[in-house]
Amino acid sequence: MGSIEEPQSSLFSNLPTIPPDEPFSVNAAYQEDTHPKKVNLGIGVYRTSEGNPWPLRVVEDAEKTIYEMKDHGRHEYLSIQGDQVFLRLAADLVFNFDSTTKDRERIASIQTVSGTGANRLGAEFLSRYIHPRPQNVWIPDPTWANHHTIWQLAGTSSSSSTPSIKIKTYPYYDSNTGGFNYNQTMKKLSSEAKENDIIILHACAHNPTGADPSIEQWENIAQLCKERHLIPFFDLAYQGFASGDVDKDGWAIRHFFQAGLEFCVAQSFSKNFGLYGQRVGALHVVTKAPSATITSTGHDKDPGTTEDVLATLCHLVRGEYSMAPRGGAEIVRTVLSNDGLRQKWVEDLRMMSSRILGMRRALFEELVRLGTPGDWTHILRQIGMFTYVGLSENQVAAIRERHHVYMLRSGRISISGLNESNVRRVAMGIDDVVRTVS
Ligand SMILES: Cc1ncc(COP(=O)(O)O)c(C=O)c1O
Repeated sequence: MGSIEEPQSSLFSNLPTIPPDEPFSVNAAYQEDTHPKKVNLGIGVYRTSEGNPWPLRVVEDAEKTIYEMKDHGRHEYLSIQGDQVFLRLAADLVFNFDSTTKDRERIASIQTVSGTGANRLGAEFLSRYIHPRPQNVWIPDPTWANHHTIWQLAGTSSSSSTPSIKIKTYPYYDSNTGGFNYNQTMKKLSSEAKENDIIILHACAHNPTGADPSIEQWENIAQLCKERHLIPFFDLAYQGFASGDVDKDGWAIRHFFQAGLEFCVAQSFSKNFGLYGQRVGALHVVTKAPSATITSTGHDKDPGTTEDVLATLCHLVRGEYSMAPRGGAEIVRTVLSNDGLRQKWVEDLRMMSSRILGMRRALFEELVRLGTPGDWTHILRQIGMFTYVGLSENQVAAIRERHHVYMLRSGRISISGLNESNVRRVAMGIDDVVRTVS
């Protein structure tokens, strides 16, 4: 018998070094901190005025209803596409369809593993199947950090780790105004974006800045996409959570739909239903309006596009995880299909968004009261869970060290981590580091 040689090193010794994901590592550092007055403004989750997680009241009602139904099929497989009633309600919520609309035919919807999964599936779909192949994906600078990871992974073949579509950024944020940098965005995209390039857009409550385009700016972005044949890709993670009004938060998407564009929407129910760990979401791919060809049966001829899109999406999902999980989608379906529960959901949404608005005002007023150097009005103008508060990396490190206030390196804070008991302490921390650290 010949001797068996010991392998020199592990099979896994060549793996790349992956930096820790920032919001989760900031959260872990916060958990380890034993200071009694520590404050967590890092992670993007809703917290009550006592600083606790909040299962929405309407979600608890829906859970009870589902439990009491004792449906024997409740743990069965879904279809690859997902729960079709849920998908119809999810699309209606995004596009504001009613029961009479024919526009639904323009949309292929598939259930996903929450908003992240919808972004990922959409990226994979566009990078593999669009012709001519997009050269670039345009991501806002800054953005939800996972957009970069998702697009780095998209469409990479087994023989290459290079993404097939180049990632480029457009200058989203104007640090002078604390708002959306409309002029520079338009300039960049109109001069450099190529036909079929993909443009990532946050439908509302831009993460991390909280700065959104105005209605007129959205109209011009839609026009630009039309003229230059760009493919918009909406990330919709905060519908209803941003303003308390699902129609207001869905306005941009509905406008792009009416404009006849083809595009994607990655929809998440994490924040607006508080179903973070349940992973509920959908990807909607919007195709062109069907041509009004009349068939021999007298019906509009379906161009087949949405069916082909759906079949391709199902193929990708089948090879990845077969189908999305059903539990959380069942809760959303139960709420959205019942008028009473739906009304209750709207009330819960308003409660969350108005608490956040109140905390924006409280932080602003504390900073003004302290006379903290700088203009803090952007805190009031920005919307949604996050604000780019305007601290440097050194100031962020100092506020953590001295005051046990945790936020992302960029100075992004989650407003929902603020409450009546800690907002003064946070403002004093900001005041201290702004005065003493550059
Ligand atoms: C802009 C944006 N997109 C997508 C997501 C994905 O959320 P989830 O996968 O939890 O639905 C988030 C969550 O923070 C987000 O902020």
